[in-house]
Formats: sequence, C-alpha cells, structure tokens
Amino acid sequence: MNENKVALVTGGNRGIGLAIVKGLAEHGFDVVLGCRNLSQGDAVASAIGANVIAVELDLSIHESRHRALAHISERFPKIDVLVNNAGVLEEAPFAQLSNEALMSSMQTNAFAAFELTQYFANQMASNGYGRIVNISSGWGAFSDGLTGPAAYSISKATLNAMTKVAANSYSGDIKINAMCPGWVRTDMGGMSATRSPEEGAETAIWLAMLSSDAPTGQFFRDKKQIDW
Ligand SMILES: NC(=O)c1ccc[n+]([C@@H]2O[C@H](COP(=O)([O-])OP(=O)(O)OC[C@H]3O[C@@H](n4cnc5c(N)ncnc54)[C@H](OP(=O)(O)O)[C@@H]3O)[C@@H](O)[C@H]2O)c1
Repeated sequence: MNENKVALVTGGNRGIGLAIVKGLAEHGFDVVLGCRNLSQGDAVASAIGANVIAVELDLSIHESRHRALAHISERFPKIDVLVNNAGVLEEAPFAQLSNEALMSSMQTNAFAAFELTQYFANQMASNGYGRIVNISSGWGAFSDGLTGPAAYSISKATLNAMTKVAANSYSGDIKINAMCPGWVRTDMGGMSATRSPEEGAETAIWLAMLSSDAPTGQFFRDKKQIDW
C-alpha cells in the first residue's frame, strides 16, 4: 500500500522513534532513519531491513542539518512523510533554568522541527501530497496546564503552536498534526512508564498514513483528537 512512499524519522535509532521506523517499514515505506551516531544508526537500520537507511542528522548542529537535507534530497527527491520525533527532556526547574539550557531544548524540540517542517512541507506542496507528524507531549498542552519541566513544556508548547501555524499555511493533501505518545518506557520515559515504545508509536504511524479527508492542524493521543 505504501510502496514507493518515503518517510523520514528524526531520532529513529532508539525509543519511540525506532518503533515508528519499524512500524512504517512494516507498512511498506522506505524509511530514512535520522540519527546522531551514524555507525549506530547503520547497525539499527540494517537489522530492520533493506528498506531502511540511516542518515546522520544532529538537530542541534547547523552543518549536520544542511548536510542531511542535501543528502536526503539528492537520494530521495520526494519525501512523503516527515516524523519530527527527536526530543530532549531538560529537567531544571524554571527558577534554575539557564538561557543556554532553554535554547538547547528549543533548538531540538521546536526550532529544528520548524526547519524540517518548512523544508519538506514546501516540497510536499509541489508534489501534492504529504504527512507531517510532530511528536509532542501532554506536558506541552495549555489545556493540561503545562505541568512538565519548564524547558520541556515551553518547547513542546512551541512545537504545538508551530504545528497549528504550519497546518494553516498549506492547503491540499498536506496533513500536519501533533501527537502525544503517552508515558512510554524509553530512556526518556523511564522503566516505570505504562506503555511500550510500540504502543507509544501507534498514533504517530496512524497519522503518517492519514487519508485525504482526515483532519490537519490537530493534536492527538490514542488516535483521538485532544485539546491543545
Ligand atoms: N517517553 C515518553 O514517555 C514520552 C512522553 C511524551 C512525549 N515523548 C516524546 O517522544 C519523542 C521520543 O522520545 P523517547 O521517549 O523515544 O526518547 P529517547 O528514548 O530519549 O530518544 C530520544 C531520541 O531523540 C534523539 N535526539 C536527541 N537530541 C537530538 C539531536 N540534537 N539531534 C538529533 N536527535 C536527537 C536521540 O538520539 P541519540 O540516541 O543520539 O541521543 C534519540 O534517538 C520525544 O520528542 C519526546 O519528547 C516521550
């Protein structure tokens, strides 16, 4: 069904990102697995199958982003799905949060997602098809009180706002949505979390394959719309 469709997943080497990569590969996508450590990414990609390739993509390094975008565009002129999954959880409370730590969270969780969304949504608009999935968090929801660690809540709320503004900016068959995976057993979520990475990935995979009449510019958990 998705043969000849190409998906890019940032932070695809472990955790929820890896479960999304595997799920999309199982659904027939060719998958570009973004990772910071290419030899680790290569090993993960080849263990999944021939339709997954790793590309070095460190979202905090300008040259890495530019190199990766040039490399991906040369090899895959058409990206059908972008999953902005990579993220960091800065724990410092607001009173102690340094400007540098906030900026670093903003760069990975929000600004890099903006850059990739703009780059690929423009391509998708010319191609007439695209799905962008931003992996956000309930901790970035105003409706839930923004109760997470300061830099995390601020950066995920920014990612949510970027999702909405981006979705408002493209018409046609381009769907740009955000989702919360729930509390997931990964390095970030810890081993007490209630969901497996596969469960955390499910809604993202569903959003990557939305039909043309599906919504855009919305926030989801468990395949249901939730409040921003
Ligand atoms: N786990 C949860 O309970 C939970 C809940 C809500 C939302 N989320 C969100 O889900 C997404 C995935 O989280 P996870 O739990 O799978 O986290 P994780 O296990 O800590 O994995 C994070 C991934 O992001 C990558 N990454 C971090 N900084 C990066 C950078 N500067 N450039 C490129 N890649 C970078 C990591 O790469 P390296 O391997 O190189 O470090 C890793 O692949 C995140 O956006 C997170 O905020 C998670």
